[in-house]
Amino acid sequence: MSVLIKGGRIITASDDYVGDVYIENGAVSMIGAALDVTAEKTIDATGKIVMPGAIDPHTHIEMFFGGTTTCDDFTSGTVAAAFGGTTSLIDFCMQAPGTSFAQALENYHEKIERCPPVIDVGFHIGVTDLREGGTLEDLAKLPDEGVTSYKLFMAYKGAVMVDDETLFKTMQVARDTGGLIMVHAENGDAIDLIVKETVAAGKTDPIWHALSRPMETEAEATNRAIQLAHVADAPLYVVHVSCLPAVEPIALAREKGWKVWGETCTQYLFIDESALEKPDWEGAKYIYTPPPRPKEHQQHLWNALVGDVLSAVSTDHCPFNWPDQKGVNGREFQVVPNGGPGIENRLHMLWTFGVREGRITPNRFVELVSTNVAKLFGLYPRKGTIAPGSDADIVVWDPDKKLTISAATHHTNINYNLFEGTEVTGAPEVVLVRGQVIVENDELVGKPGDGQFVKRARFGEELLPAAKAVT
Ligand code: URP
Ligand code: ZN
Ligand code: ZN
Repeated sequence: MSVLIKGGRIITASDDYVGDVYIENGAVSMIGAALDVTAEKTIDATGKIVMPGAIDPHTHIEMFFGGTTTCDDFTSGTVAAAFGGTTSLIDFCMQAPGTSFAQALENYHEKIERCPPVIDVGFHIGVTDLREGGTLEDLAKLPDEGVTSYKLFMAYKGAVMVDDETLFKTMQVARDTGGLIMVHAENGDAIDLIVKETVAAGKTDPIWHALSRPMETEAEATNRAIQLAHVADAPLYVVHVSCLPAVEPIALAREKGWKVWGETCTQYLFIDESALEKPDWEGAKYIYTPPPRPKEHQQHLWNALVGDVLSAVSTDHCPFNWPDQKGVNGREFQVVPNGGPGIENRLHMLWTFGVREGRITPNRFVELVSTNVAKLFGLYPRKGTIAPGSDADIVVWDPDKKLTISAATHHTNINYNLFEGTEVTGAPEVVLVRGQVIVENDELVGKPGDGQFVKRARFGEELLPAAKAVT
């Protein structure tokens, strides 16, 4: 199948020009000012922006967590992602404590076979246990399976939290195998005590979720992970950075030239802790971790994105329905499963309030949602750019399209939206994955199975364009 995208404003992390993109066999084959070619499908992109498909490095699809399972599977979750302009995601393949990494991978491959994705999917391994089920030898084999990032939780005591020994040993494996360490950085021991004291004092409403997880517990764990990764000589990526105290150690490490990167998520840029005070337990919709912070931290996060202290914006899409899964009256905040939705609206929100309001340039936008993610997670240059040979994962973006974000019209299975009622300007018109149209004019054109599992390259290595990799 050949596709010609004509006359769009092509924006990558480094370029911004008007031209045509010609796609053959799923890859970009030519880019030029006015290409003299005919194609089976032509997309008129005049007045539109043509950019690399976004990559979401942080989702929790069909994940068992907090006694329940997130309500998107790999079909519904990836359909929602595609409607928002995301063409690849990397999900956490969780090791159930006491079981092997091979078993975890098998479980997650079964999930994508049972509910096939419409966009491309990769896995990070979620390391929860090196004592009963997981071994260091097995951990070291995962990059050969294209799973080149190791995620560890420094919080959620009694569930998926690891101790420093497990964290440090995994860092040593990452150093030796070319993996990237990812951490959920909060001091789980301290938080566990504070939460118990809070509940014992009868403080059980959703707002206490935020008040029992002080920012310093995030900052302390962030710094601990940074120092340990430096000692182990492993590259480190800190997920869902929520506040200035956690930004600061990342800034310092990066100033020193250490191998440290951080992401924030859309919700931390737009939702503050007052959301947890919504009446009738509606505040439980905003129980995700780290919690929404006081409003002034939103500006600190924008500054960190602009100043290259933070390198990516993910969604941490972790959808639990409200009230069925999130619970209502009579519940206590600490038993509500942690997580919020967001897979579909990351680009809408960042374009409208980031690019249109002059906080970030269009190039930086592409970098934050696509190119940096591709580079850090072993997908570049196959993904994350528009260049000859790259996968034709492309979004034709209408910068003037208006939309009101709502659970009534979004495509994920969850029954609420964190950004409900927000008016945005800028949305995808056509979304292509490896040259195949998945979404066009608000219609799903693709089908389950159009997305593929992607084996990623090791940290710092390139993922060659598919054609070159074969020859
Ligand atoms: O609350 C959240 N973020 N839930 C998902 C698991 C995690 O911590 O990323
Ligand atoms: Zn987390
Ligand atoms: Zn998460």
